[in-house]
This record gives sequence, structure tokens and C-alpha cells, in this order.
Amino acid sequence: VSAAKLQAPRGTHDVLGPQAAARERVESVARALLEGAGYERIETPTFEATELFARGVGASTDIVRKEMYTFTDGGGRSLTLRPEGTAPVCRAYVEHGMHKLRQPVKLWYASSFFRYERAQAGRQRQFWQVGAEALGSEEPAVDAESIVLLAALLAELDVQDVRLRLSSLGGPEARAEYRERLQTHLRAHAEQLAPEVRERIELNPLRAFDSEHPGTRAAMATAPSLLEHLSPADAAHFAEVRALLEDAGVAYELDPTLVRGLDYYTRTVFELTSDALGAQSGVGGGGRYDGLVAELGGPPTPGMGWAAGIERILLAGRAPVAAPPALDLYVAWQVQDDVEPAPRPAARAAFKLVYQARQAGLTAQMEQAGRSLKSQLGQAERLGARYVAILDGVSAGGAVLRDMQARTQQELPAETVVHAVLRGRGAL
Ligand code: HAM
Repeated sequence: VSAAKLQAPRGTHDVLGPQAAARERVESVARALLEGAGYERIETPTFEATELFARGVGASTDIVRKEMYTFTDGGGRSLTLRPEGTAPVCRAYVEHGMHKLRQPVKLWYASSFFRYERAQAGRQRQFWQVGAEALGSEEPAVDAESIVLLAALLAELDVQDVRLRLSSLGGPEARAEYRERLQTHLRAHAEQLAPEVRERIELNPLRAFDSEHPGTRAAMATAPSLLEHLSPADAAHFAEVRALLEDAGVAYELDPTLVRGLDYYTRTVFELTSDALGAQSGVGGGGRYDGLVAELGGPPTPGMGWAAGIERILLAGRAPVAAPPALDLYVAWQVQDDVEPAPRPAARAAFKLVYQARQAGLTAQMEQAGRSLKSQLGQAERLGARYVAILDGVSAGGAVLRDMQARTQQELPAETVVHAVLRGRGAL
């Protein structure tokens, strides 16, 4: 059997060394920021009932129509790898009766999501998001706080050239009315539109704003604006969100053409883009979803949140990654001759010493590649080890401890090495 070349599936990638450290940093900065603002960690399942996304994200969206990884399990259930996190968080809110807790309930996550999209730089089929959701309050302060937190996260992670686009979609009635007005406008300009926009006039007219097609763009330039048709309550809500952002010194661009690719949004919507990213410029985005919890069978509950792509944060950022912890002790060892019978005393002594060192709170590594003593010392140097203990197996129970900084060494009993290193590190 000839083994075909096995590779990670298209649109996925392995996370290696420095990349793993960079991600960890995104997560730890997000944790400090969000938990400091009252958000608690939530982790929902990687797959959910397909119906959750069909109902939550919306049947007319690209995500539900063509991007979901859906499968039938052994019990005949239709399940879907989560394409996003808001519907699952709302499902969990309802399932665990979180409306009985003090409101708002604030939850954050850092998880992977799945969308069958055309893979390119910054767009994968499995990607990671940091997200934050606040449920149970319609206070404009929740909207503004949520946006400010994402802006602060991106700033702390040194994401370059960030711009905030902001709009309001109003409530469901205003949106439905607007949809009809927009459809009328699009039908009147039908011959000018890109075919795929024309086909979606009935299904999803708002997506016309996303088109790059010149004729469509020309038609959209004269399209009615949703912001001009907000109800007085929605307009007042939006005015307060804007005032709070201004008070916080957060600059934004009002963009009435901002439509997000998910159906659950009401009122505030926003997106943070980075000009450092090129085509896939959206680093993070979100908004209010005051109807979603009820749509999923829960009590009427407003919600507000966002998610930001971790890969895109890293592409557009340049935050330094913390170095791995310093190495206190490297244990070099050598057997007397190649045919020494197992268990080899030097191997056992080295293993035991590393174990004891770690128990004492030191960082320690031992030789595991059969190098010569000389290249073991070279390896210890490369790892930045502060001390090297050399066990040669000849002088039973004895060791040589080398101080790599002072370039001095001493002979001592193996069982006192940990003590000597602790003393040398100033820990005793
Ligand atoms: P979204 O705009 O679909 O919103 O995704 C949020 C972010 O996830 C994007 O800005 C982008 O950085 C990243 N992202 C999305 N798709 C991909 C992909 N294929 N490859 C790499 N990164 C990607 C949501 O998912 C909403 N759940 C946000 C939200 C939370 N709204 C309210 N609460």
C-alpha cells in the first residue's frame, strides 16, 4: 500500500513553537482584560445541533447556506461544527437558566470555529476567536464597554492601523421596513447589479452593501440609509452609545453600509479592521442581538458581544512574545561503555536528579539524545542553563556541578546537587 502524502486539510494548519506562544499571549491578555471587567470563561461544545445555527445565525446567511461542516452522527442526529460562538453561548444561557443570575451575565471564550470558506491568507476553515458576550442588559453602557474592551485588547496586542466602523441596525420592525425599502431600490436598479446581488434581492438584500462590483457600488451609493430610519428609541440608544465612546476617547467612523454576515444583529453593530491585513481586513466585530435568546426558546433577553480572529490579530500585530522560563539545571550524563546492562546507573541517577530538582521548584532538563559529553555541554549552553550537573557513572553517587555563568565547577555528592543549585539561585 503506497501511503499518499498526508497533510493537514486545506484551510487548517498546525500551531508550532513560537506561534503557540503568541496565541497563548493573546489568550492571557484577553483573560486579564475581560475577567477584570467581570467576564467569566465559558467553553461550549465543538459541535452543536445543526438547528441551533440554522435558527440562530439565520437560514439566509452565507454561513448557514454554504459554509457549515454538517454531519450525521451514529444516532442519526444532524450536528454541525460550530461556525461561530454567539448562538452556542445563548443556547447555554437558556439551558442553564442563567436569566436567574444577576444580570448582565458576561461570558468570554477563546475557541476554534469552522467554516467551509475559500482558504487564503487570514481566512481558514478552522480558525480561532476570542469572544465576549454580555447578556441581560440593554444599557448603552454595555455596548460601549464591549467595544472599548475589544479596542483595548487590540491596542495591547499591538495590532496595527486599527479602524472602528460603527452603525445601528435598529430594532426588528425598523429593519424589516428598511429591508423592503432597500429591495424596492435594488429592483429599480436591477440591470446595474452584479448577478449574485440580483439573485439575492429577495433573500438577503443587505449583502448588496458588501459587493465590490462597480455597477452594484454605484447603485448602493444612492441607496436609502438605515440610520435615517431608526425609531426614536433606537436612535436615542445609538446616540448614547456614541456619546460614551466619545467620552472614552475611542475614535470611530459612522458607516451606515456596515452589514454583518449574521442575521441576529439588532441596534449597535461594529467592526474593527486593520489596514495591515489586506483583503481580509476584519480583525473583530460584533454587536447587539436582542432577539437571539428568545429565538432560541429562552426568555426575552438582550445581548451584546463581539469576536476577534486570533490568526488575524497575530497577522496584524507585532507584540513580543514572552521567552520560555529560564533553565536552572541541565543534567548531563554518560554511561561507562556502550554495552552496560540495563538499568544503567547513570541514566537512573540523571532521571532521579531531574525529578528531585523539579520537585524543589527548579526548572530542569536531562540529556535524552545520546550526545557525547562535549556536545551535551554545548546543548546546555544553547538552552541557557544556569548550572550543569555531570554524572559520569564512574564515581558512584558523585557529580560535577558546573556554574555556567561563573565558569567554575565543583565535585559533590549527587544528592546535594539540588541544594547547591537552590543556594546558588539565592533560593536558600
Ligand atoms: P464574525 O464577523 O463572523 O462574527 O467573526 C469574527 C471574527 O472572526 C472576524 O472578524 C475574523 O477576525 C474572524 N474570522 C471569521 N471567519 C474567519 C475565517 N474563516 N478565518 C479566520 N478568521 C475568521 C462572529 O463570529 C460573531 N459571533 C461575533 C459576535 C459575537 N457578535 C456578537 N457576539
